[in-house]
Amino acid sequence: MSANGVPTIELNDGNGIPQLGLGVFKVDAGDTARVVAEALELGYRHIDTAQMYGNEAGVGEAVRGSGLPRDEIFVTSKLNNGNHRPDDARRSFEETLAALGLDHVDLFLIHWPRATQAGDAYVDVWRTLEELQAEGGARSIGVSNFLVAHLEKLAEETETVPAVNQIELHPFFQNAEVKAYGEARGIATEAWAPIARGGSLLEEPAIVKIAASHERTPAQIVLRWHVERGNIVFPKSARSERLRENLSLFDFALEADELARIDELDEGEPGRTGPHPDAFG
Ligand SMILES: NC(=O)c1ccc[n+]([C@@H]2O[C@H](COP(=O)([O-])OP(=O)(O)OC[C@H]3O[C@@H](n4cnc5c(N)ncnc54)[C@H](OP(=O)(O)O)[C@@H]3O)[C@@H](O)[C@H]2O)c1
Repeated sequence: MSANGVPTIELNDGNGIPQLGLGVFKVDAGDTARVVAEALELGYRHIDTAQMYGNEAGVGEAVRGSGLPRDEIFVTSKLNNGNHRPDDARRSFEETLAALGLDHVDLFLIHWPRATQAGDAYVDVWRTLEELQAEGGARSIGVSNFLVAHLEKLAEETETVPAVNQIELHPFFQNAEVKAYGEARGIATEAWAPIARGGSLLEEPAIVKIAASHERTPAQIVLRWHVERGNIVFPKSARSERLRENLSLFDFALEADELARIDELDEGEPGRTGPHPDAFG
């Protein structure tokens, strides 16, 4: 556990990742350095960005300007969808490091499998990521939005088991099959849209009731459920009070029956808010 109370999860390659971080999808490029700097000051030590978000430069500016030792901040980025040929993947990774102004990232992910568009090109891309890890530019490597079939294909054809699979996961869409596959094979689950993008989930009566009994907000209850279910999360906010709120999860706990009540909110496929991995990319 680090000084700010956030647990560290050990990945299958031996590296540690803070279980809670900040996601910066849809943070304006011009505002990103301010938001990330504020988050680091509050105690966040894990930032999740992507080439697709167009704000890696702001993340790097804040990390470099924070005065914190580089090895105390965990930085993730992701390969853009247009760059799935092996040479493109390497060039694209170099662009990520240049935009961040850093000599390594802590985690680099294939953002989407793109199997519908590019067949099994993700297998060769994965081999490129294995090289990037061996060379030290990416301390850990993983995937995002991979379904079980994609993970099985990597297991059959390549050496390295992904350290993480970053997937949509929240109480309305618990993505149980993909999460269970990862759990059985040492692939940590990162939950994107952990509060289902701040929508109706936060007005769900079961969540509101549990929040009232703990004198916490609905977002804190949902995030605490993730923590207790072992998910790695990085809720996005560009607002100071919510950055603070989303980090304050480590001085209370949910009861077993409260966790079970939240488990019951799973709607399966209809609960998904983002695109299906077979349809996007
Ligand atoms: N791998 C992928 O394909 C993928 C896809 C999507 C997201 N992600 C990653 O996952 C991160 C999180 O997902 P997300 O940004 O889509 O959704 P999210 O974190 O579930 O929700 C973010 C939304 O909730 C609001 N919010 C934040 N804290 C709140 C609180 N305490 N109470 C009420 N509303 C709150 C934010 O608004 P304000 O900013 O106004 O506070 C924002 O509109 C992203 O930033 C990104 O890093 C990855």
